Amino acid sequence: MASDPVLAPLRERAQQCTARAHVPFSGTPTAAVLLLDDGRWIPGVRVESASYSLTLPALLNAYTTAVALGVVDAVAAFVLSRSFRREEALYVETLAQDPYEAVADDAWLRGGRGGDGALPALDSLLSPVLGATLDDPSDGIDAARRMAQRAYVPASEYAVGAVLECDDGRLVPGVNVEHPDWARILCAERNALGTVQSYALPAPHHLFLTCSEDPDGTPCGACRQLLVELAPDTTLWMDRHSASPERATVSALLPGSFRGQALLDE
Ligand code: THU
Repeated sequence: MASDPVLAPLRERAQQCTARAHVPFSGTPTAAVLLLDDGRWIPGVRVESASYSLTLPALLNAYTTAVALGVVDAVAAFVLSRSFRREEALYVETLAQDPYEAVADDAWLRGGRGGDGALPALDSLLSPVLGATLDDPSDGIDAARRMAQRAYVPASEYAVGAVLECDDGRLVPGVNVEHPDWARILCAERNALGTVQSYALPAPHHLFLTCSEDPDGTPCGACRQLLVELAPDTTLWMDRHSASPERATVSALLPGSFRGQALLDE
């Protein structure tokens, strides 16, 4: 791959981030890096699931973090730690934001090479942590409600907001992010879990969830599976606006879960 002064520092970051990928089944880590207009950057790593098809691809993980952090309109470039596959190119090139064009076999720029002028110089990592601490669960629900306003939901108009509290008290947001290919839609809970992994944050401890005015709202099976695999000791607080939040544990939400121990890449 030819050396490129714009892409080289992003490629270097993407390579470094592969160490954070959760790839116990394939042993093949992938990472992506998004560059923002102000030079800050966002990592996204591959997060594998024992049920394989629930795996979060690195590009999707990085992009959905940008949506949850409210900076999606500022994404100027995507760089992957290896050559992209056809389905990965389709994911990036059909996003709703400005059109991104492949400029190498591992990178896309907004508007392509001629589109946006010079890219900003790479600056610092964008923090994914909300600037708040929680005194009690109602603060967590309030934060999740604020986050739900960032959901990107043109298909469903069903906004979900999530806030994961890590063991050290740091708060990480997640929202649902829809895509023209419904198989690429990510739920709010898994968005937050993917961000925790991409930034190598401590294990989650509490999960605050809000699903606007759906009295039956509850984490879907896919999110329950990822919670079991990545955050089994988490307590959930589910808010349906009208009633007081319902408390649940991950083990109660998915008893007898599939962990894929026999599939581990030793
Ligand atoms: N959704 C979530 O964000 N979390 C869940 O646990 C259930 C479903 C989202 C996905 C999609 O954007 C919309 O809600 C309808 O399924």
